[in-house]
Amino acid sequence: MKTGKRIVILTGAGISKESGLDTFRDADGLWSKVRIEDVATPEAFARDPVKVHEFYNQRRRQMVGGNIRPNAAHRALARLEEEGAQQAIEVLLVTQNIDDLHEKAGSRNLLHMHGEMKKARCEACDHVTAWEADLTRETLCPGCARPGGMRPHVVWFGEMPLYMDAIMQALERCDLFLSIGTSGNVYPAAGFVRQVRRAGRAHTVELNLEPSEGVELFAETIHGPASRIVPDYVARILGEKMI
Ligand code: APR
Repeated sequence: MKTGKRIVILTGAGISKESGLDTFRDADGLWSKVRIEDVATPEAFARDPVKVHEFYNQRRRQMVGGNIRPNAAHRALARLEEEGAQQAIEVLLVTQNIDDLHEKAGSRNLLHMHGEMKKARCEACDHVTAWEADLTRETLCPGCARPGGMRPHVVWFGEMPLYMDAIMQALERCDLFLSIGTSGNVYPAAGFVRQVRRAGRAHTVELNLEPSEGVELFAETIHGPASRIVPDYVARILGEKMI
């Protein structure tokens, strides 16, 4: 199997499903219970900040207080980064997820392109701080001490994802691109595989429960639960399993 020295991995909500966190577009997903326009846009926050805060407060409480743990797929990616280093394999993990399961599993070279649930940002002074409690309109910014400006440090629809320059450079240079647990519905992440194909050098693999919107764009597709197919694929990359 062709493996590369530089691996870029994109993950989505599907990798955290077996840890007990909802995805967005599965039948029982978050967007079947609440409308994006009501809770995940800057306009929604301006119109009804209480509703938006409650939506994220509920999900943050689940992540902070619930028994949410990394699963075998998160752990396999952390292992690939750590053990791959002995084989001169560089791993960059780009996640669309705002949970902290990749960090808890041990991944270090990690970019949260849609932000992080356990961080808050002040709209008045842009101060970003770790945050595990509920957020309200009355929350004072730890940076400028003003109330009324604190929001989840999460990228909403219509806002620019984070770290895009670094991600674009990594996609250009990689030898292997893995897309894990994402439906391929939301750009720019859904377009990363096209960027890799244009660079013309990397092997591209989709690892997902079922074919994504962009399945035709991948050279290799492996379908099944992430907790099984991701550890298997990592073992192949590390040379522990034949093809
Ligand atoms: N193992 C692997 N894949 C799974 C599993 C599993 N156990 N369970 C579900 N999946 C797959 C689904 O088949 C689906 O293709 O994970 C994918 C989840 O897709 P979405 O719910 O659309 O989540 P995601 O692709 O991460 O959404 C991207 O959209 O709403 C925004 O900001 C939000 O980051 C999110 C972005």
